[in-house]
Amino acid sequence: MGDEFTRDPYRVYAELRARGPVHRVRMPEGVESWLVVGHDEIRAALNDPRLSKDWEKASEAQGLPVVAAGPHMLSADPPHHTRLRRLVAREFTARRVEALAPRVQQITDGLLENMLRAPDRRADLVEALSFPLPMSVICELLGVPDLDRAAFHRWSDVAIGSAPPAEKTRNAQEVAGYLAGLVAAKRRQPGEDLLSDLIRTTDEDGDRLSPDELIGMAWLLLVAGHETTVNLISNGVLALLRHPDQLAALRADFGLLDDAVEEMLRYDGPVETSTYRFTLEPLEIAGTRIPGGGELVVVALADADRDPARFPDPHRFDIRRDARGHVAFGHGIHYCLGAPLARLEGRIAVRSLLERCPDLELDCHPDALLWREGMLMRGPYRLPVRF
Ligand code: HEM
Repeated sequence: MGDEFTRDPYRVYAELRARGPVHRVRMPEGVESWLVVGHDEIRAALNDPRLSKDWEKASEAQGLPVVAAGPHMLSADPPHHTRLRRLVAREFTARRVEALAPRVQQITDGLLENMLRAPDRRADLVEALSFPLPMSVICELLGVPDLDRAAFHRWSDVAIGSAPPAEKTRNAQEVAGYLAGLVAAKRRQPGEDLLSDLIRTTDEDGDRLSPDELIGMAWLLLVAGHETTVNLISNGVLALLRHPDQLAALRADFGLLDDAVEEMLRYDGPVETSTYRFTLEPLEIAGTRIPGGGELVVVALADADRDPARFPDPHRFDIRRDARGHVAFGHGIHYCLGAPLARLEGRIAVRSLLERCPDLELDCHPDALLWREGMLMRGPYRLPVRF
């Protein structure tokens, strides 16, 4: 769990994979879990209905804190999951998301203009672009443009980080209170936005989305908007800057952009391991017997996407490769709902940045970058660049 691991977890996962697909590990927050590595084993595990996502049952069994501000789809099994997902799925279809492109471009242009004003022509890309872009987009989409971003950022970091259980519980209560206030304000003054739509759904058909579920949904979407796409942009730009031949190829032909973003997701994706699953009954994964009764299971998405059995020469960053089949967005029924939006933001951010900054370079030694600790999210806290 030291610096070396956060800088390059891939080597450790590969060493584990050489020994076998399933390992007993102690997670950063202290709980014991089963860790699955290897592309095929991971896809199979993510598709296995015997691995539940019902967090309330899991946390009872394992003494884990409830970290979310309310019940939500990523902590639910069918049919509850199906119902919660259906309520928002239509807002995130590829077609619906494509309509957001002009606004995403506008926000990106504004952020880049601001960045380019720096007299020393230097910036922290996380602060200038990777973080505020997805943040602004999800806040606008939900209809909470004046979200207290500093406070939410703190809450969200505690929820997904390795804080002690008592702090996580207190944190979840605080953010639930804050979101309840936002929902109440929206109820009084609805608009043309996702949160208002969800409130209307609740109001017209009371038993469909409870007040707690409304808060859970807002929490999930805001956390997803805060913690993931930021790392797609940062890790992706970092990969380009560390591979000048790939950067030059993309600059020469933006027709490669879609494939380049897929390769960024595969090569150094934002989500390193899945969220917890837990066993509903005893099961075998790749020959290892795992008891039932709520044993925790996580899969190393990062390792699946560097498995040479699926991706030849996996540690090579190659924007022309066929990166399809990567699991950066997960797999199975919990496959990322926001994937089309994340891809859109990633493409617009990377292309606009390269177009506006023809001399973009890393402004520190790559080894000096400080990476997020823990195993859930992967990305640098800061990404110093000059342009
Ligand atoms: C590059 C950016 C993103 C990445 C890499 C990513 C990755 C993931 C992954 C791996 C999962 C599954 C987790 C698991 O099974 O344990 C997931 C689920 C989810 N993501 Fe994303 N995500 C991204 C952006 C977004 C955005 C922008 C949104 C929302 C607007 C979003 C909303 C969701 C939701 C709601 C789920 C739960 C789906 C379900 O349980 O059915 N994600 N994401």
